[in-house]
Amino acid sequence: MQRAIELIQESHRPVVFTGAGMSSESGMRTFRGDDGLWREYSPEKLSSLQGLLADPGVVWEWYRMRFMKTAGIVPHIGYEALTWLQKKKKALPVITQNVDGLHLEAGQTDVLELHGSMRSVSCVKKCGYRTPLTDRLVETLPPVCPDCGAILKPDIVLFGEPLDHDTISRAYLLAEECDLMLVIGTSVQVWPAAGIPFTALESGARIIEINPARTELPRSERVVSIRRKAGEILPLLTGLSREIQ
Ligand code: APR
Repeated sequence: MQRAIELIQESHRPVVFTGAGMSSESGMRTFRGDDGLWREYSPEKLSSLQGLLADPGVVWEWYRMRFMKTAGIVPHIGYEALTWLQKKKKALPVITQNVDGLHLEAGQTDVLELHGSMRSVSCVKKCGYRTPLTDRLVETLPPVCPDCGAILKPDIVLFGEPLDHDTISRAYLLAEECDLMLVIGTSVQVWPAAGIPFTALESGARIIEINPARTELPRSERVVSIRRKAGEILPLLTGLSREIQ
């Protein structure tokens, strides 16, 4: 713990990398954790482009449920601690796999949303139509593009879809250039995102991993693993808790 605090204080080019576990204490279920959604639901059926095209009604029922859930949550103190650290460090890019928008809601800047966001939808035929995702839009499912009549899809990267080229390229560049990466609440299993902490390690950076469970990250003298929850440990690690005492 003390080692991790020192690493954060000494770092000049720190970067944050998060996954579903970062939002767990805000009430979001993870995908593969003990409460994992993929233990109950089929990712191929509900979170792939093929699944959406095969059965848009069922997939949109699922995204309406996810949207309602996301609409009702707020960032926990772990997010506040990262926002606080970002101000203190002047530069702290945040690379997230999450689509819930909580990093931005917590006032963080320079946030790379690798897997997109639940905030908007666009035409599956890419006719150019895009609009915010609202309660009204999901009253009738599946929502249809008013310009070309095709179905609309959430602006999330579904399995089988490529990530945005500029976003993933910048994320890998940050991983190559950082001297410290905070890897929080991810099982490090889904590629190409999972390659980001590995690239940081290969490029000589140190890693602080925050996760109650073991992940795919290798054991290395340059990896400090803290088996605790993000909301419990980030205020202590970043120094926010000393600040608010
Ligand atoms: N604090 C920190 N870590 C936590 C917490 C917590 N409070 N609660 C759970 N975790 C950890 C779990 O132990 C697990 O290792 O968070 C991790 C979540 O892993 P996954 O559910 O696999 O989520 P993630 O790594 O983000 O998945 C990557 O897979 O399904 C796709 O597109 C989806 O972005 C997602 C991607």
